[in-house]
Amino acid sequence: MSMEWGMANRLAQLIRPDNRCMWLPIDHGYFQGPTSKLEEPGKTIAPILEYADGLFVTRGVMRACVDPKASKPIILRVSGGTSMLGKDLAHEAVTTSMEEAIRLNASAVGVSVFIGSAYEHETLVNLSKLVNEGERYGIPVMAVTAVGREMEKRDARYLGLACRICAEQGARVVKSYYCSPDFDKVVRGCPVPVVVAGGPQVDTEMQVFEFVYDGIQKGAIGVNLGRNIWKHPYPVAMAKAIRALVHDNATPKQAHDLFETVKAGKA
Ligand code: 5RP
Repeated sequence: MSMEWGMANRLAQLIRPDNRCMWLPIDHGYFQGPTSKLEEPGKTIAPILEYADGLFVTRGVMRACVDPKASKPIILRVSGGTSMLGKDLAHEAVTTSMEEAIRLNASAVGVSVFIGSAYEHETLVNLSKLVNEGERYGIPVMAVTAVGREMEKRDARYLGLACRICAEQGARVVKSYYCSPDFDKVVRGCPVPVVVAGGPQVDTEMQVFEFVYDGIQKGAIGVNLGRNIWKHPYPVAMAKAIRALVHDNATPKQAHDLFETVKAGKA
């Protein structure tokens, strides 16, 4: 795929030469407020930032909590306008301009799309308008296939539809939840790279390692995974283990061994 230099360069900052990526989302406060373990985002990221290839963050938290001299490439969260207390989490608009993204030296922007919701049309138009502007300035757009509170939507049929539609609108990369079975169908039906979101915290570390491993086996280029790292009591051990899955082709067992070693203070 030919691509202009700026677009290619920004994507290359986020997607490493092995064509894999580990992005750390800390954007949850944009509708959840000071959600647990992310009350002070600067403190949350301090020990784990070094393991991330990029940060997914709003302009507000970025300015206030991310050191411009010691940052990672930024994917700027540019949609919002909702809260946990409001009527419908899907009712998002674009809240941050492309000019701001350029001023903040973002490597990409990210927007949520709520396929199948009452605001499907609005959020798809948000994506399309951002792509129109992003392409003008060489800023890649990441589409976030979002389900709001309806976590049961996360199956291959829904995610396949959502990812494909986001790619058709021009997203350069699409964030999807993992699903089983048939995550390979989600990836195959999406002509641009797919990254796996973590979702709410799961019960065991091994469950995270298994879905990340399987997601990559089935064609995802990496993860955009937050809560299962920074909500965990051992975030550094989780970050290192997930990095090994993404960049070193570790198996879930190897990742788990690394997790235990780091947890025990031996690495
Ligand atoms: C939250 C998001 C997150 O970036 C996305 O869900 C990934 O984070 P997590 O792994 O915690 O689910 O879009 O609004």
